[in-house]
Amino acid sequence: MKILGIETSCDETSASIVENGTKIISNAVFSSQKMHAKTGGIIPENAARQQIKSIIPVLEQSIKNTYFDAIAVTVGPGLIGSLLVGVETARTLSFVYKKPIIPVNHLVAHVFANFIEKTELPKFPYICLVVSGGHTDLILMKNLKSIKYLGGTRDDAAGEAFDKTARLLGLPYPGGPSISLKAKEYSDSNLTLFPRPMIHDKNFEFSFSGLKTSVFRKVKDLKMTNSLQSKFAAEVQEAIVDVLISKTLSALDKYKPKSLLLAGGVSANQRLRYKLTKEIQGKKVKVDLFFPEPKYCTDNAAVIASCAFFNKKYIPWEKIKVNPELTIMDKV
Ligand code: KG4
Ligand code: ZN
Repeated sequence: MKILGIETSCDETSASIVENGTKIISNAVFSSQKMHAKTGGIIPENAARQQIKSIIPVLEQSIKNTYFDAIAVTVGPGLIGSLLVGVETARTLSFVYKKPIIPVNHLVAHVFANFIEKTELPKFPYICLVVSGGHTDLILMKNLKSIKYLGGTRDDAAGEAFDKTARLLGLPYPGGPSISLKAKEYSDSNLTLFPRPMIHDKNFEFSFSGLKTSVFRKVKDLKMTNSLQSKFAAEVQEAIVDVLISKTLSALDKYKPKSLLLAGGVSANQRLRYKLTKEIQGKKVKVDLFFPEPKYCTDNAAVIASCAFFNKKYIPWEKIKVNPELTIMDKV
């Protein structure tokens, strides 16, 4: 079965055809990140306008002459103006081609990046750490229908912490990739400058807004130089990565899943992958670790089509609605 996925929740416009949830037939992604880099972050109105410009080109690129059976589209969470472009496009295609629509929760879809072009699929139960620009969620999946929420961020998301601290350091948007690149220039391995918020709390909650404040205090009277940028970048990255890993390892100890899946933009982070892999190798408990291919970590429509294949819930075009406030636990 071939599903056409459409993703327009934030600053990527993407269309993709995926066969049986795992095989990529096409995946076109246009990003408006360069435009947002100029304003130091996303202005929702600009993001929505860019979605309108890019939606037909990505559809043209990914559909070509390929037949598809259904249309999957992100209905939330995200920016309302951006989401509407995808949903109204899906509605029109559904009406014209007489194909059913499958609404998709963007956050759940991130998990399915671990299913794409993989020779082996994760085995239940999974623990998934979904870390993106707007969300940080730790969930336990016993099967595709049963999701237990273990914890999440009380304030800023992990990706947001990267984006905001990057700005304080004078590094470009998006902050995750720019901090990670800059951190590579710093060779000192003693990285303890910043606090690891809530790391010792016996729960699966996160808090990253204090980190932003600490960085602000440290840099406000400094004249930023290239070497200070790389030092702070390494320190910030280490603080975020340490908290993410510590909470994830506690969840593994408590729930003993068969697989651990990382997902969302921040899961592309190489330091996170490296340190987590080392920690898991050093553990007695066996767990299969899954990282998506980096291009499927950040927003793309392939994960939307994959998620829809494994969670088929068809609705007629009249019924589809956007919901900018969806959480990972919300059914769509
Ligand atoms: O999942 P995503 O593409 O969009 C949302 O759904 O939010 O995630 C975007 C976030 C941004 O905050 C970006 O800074 C972060 O993912 N990110 C990274 C890396 N690549 C993207 N953070 C850390 N390291 C990276 N390599
Ligand atoms: Zn996302």
